[in-house]
Amino acid sequence: MSKEVILTGVRSNAELTLGNYLGAILPLVRLQQRYSGDYQINAFLPDLHSITTPTDYDQLYARTIYNLRIFAAAGLKLDDPNTLIYRQSYIPAHCELTWILDSFIYYGELSRMTQFKEKSQGQESVSASLFNYPALMAADILLYDASYVPVGEDQRQHLELSRDVAIRMNNLFGDLFVVPKSWEEQVKFNHTGARIRSLKHPEFKMSKSISDPSGTILLSDSPKDARHKILSATTDSFSLIDYDFKLRPGISNLLLIIATIQNKAVEEVTLEWKGQTSYAKLKQTAAELVESELEKLQANLALVTENEALKALAKHESTVREVANIKLAKVQASVGLRPKQ
Ligand code: TRP
Repeated sequence: MSKEVILTGVRSNAELTLGNYLGAILPLVRLQQRYSGDYQINAFLPDLHSITTPTDYDQLYARTIYNLRIFAAAGLKLDDPNTLIYRQSYIPAHCELTWILDSFIYYGELSRMTQFKEKSQGQESVSASLFNYPALMAADILLYDASYVPVGEDQRQHLELSRDVAIRMNNLFGDLFVVPKSWEEQVKFNHTGARIRSLKHPEFKMSKSISDPSGTILLSDSPKDARHKILSATTDSFSLIDYDFKLRPGISNLLLIIATIQNKAVEEVTLEWKGQTSYAKLKQTAAELVESELEKLQANLALVTENEALKALAKHESTVREVANIKLAKVQASVGLRPKQ
């Protein structure tokens, strides 16, 4: 029997932050280290999703390649035989399957998606592709018969929609797709990504968009600057260290940063610090870890050339196109676009 597939897409439309690094990049690297061999891993760059909202079109192409170099610098092996790495837009079957799935997904379902409601709210014009985003995501998943799809809570509805359309089409056409595991069954791979908050406004996620440069560490920041940002992080006026994101997001964020870099459970790190009074010492520890992590990452980045990244992509993409086209042909035959197989 062929291996079960773990599939995940990592978006690349903004400059990468420490939040992306600890929340998505490191988890993917660790996933590969731990599970490659037992599973087939598909790690792809959803560049078509990047244009569903206005973006810096001039930068997008280069950013996609740059981000892949960052992944490699963080430890992702580009030549692992069990990991396929590719750009979505280089595999035409994604778009072709999207159109077919779209014919079996209801307008009402897409209208109910929280991400669509949030992203379209207050916008003067909303693209049709933003509405359609979950159909493309379902195609990304179903094309490869993925069982496991590690994503954050914000993508849960999209995963559920992918399951629904797979089940619906299987009922109509026989066993066309592997139905991805339910959210509950995904836990083995999910929830590994830490949701790092802004260092200045820890009630919000760390992201470039809240325009707080001192609360956001970019992966291109100098390690020294990063260190200073951690040392001047907002904390709270309690006097004992404890982990509680509701009441004490600043301190909890620091504990989470330490735990993720050290690859430990946050509960374990919390036990080490619980009850201590020195916020300065906690910041110092987090600052040193982040500083040396960035130093390492940036040194590695210099060693991964663009050429190397492009070569790896070209190689994977030609394999992936074949796999994807076989599935697409099967679906096309089922819905009457091709003769019965
Ligand atoms: N929508 C995902 C995100 O915002 C990225 C993504 C696109 C994805 N297609 C996917 C994730 C397929 C998993 C599987 O993070």
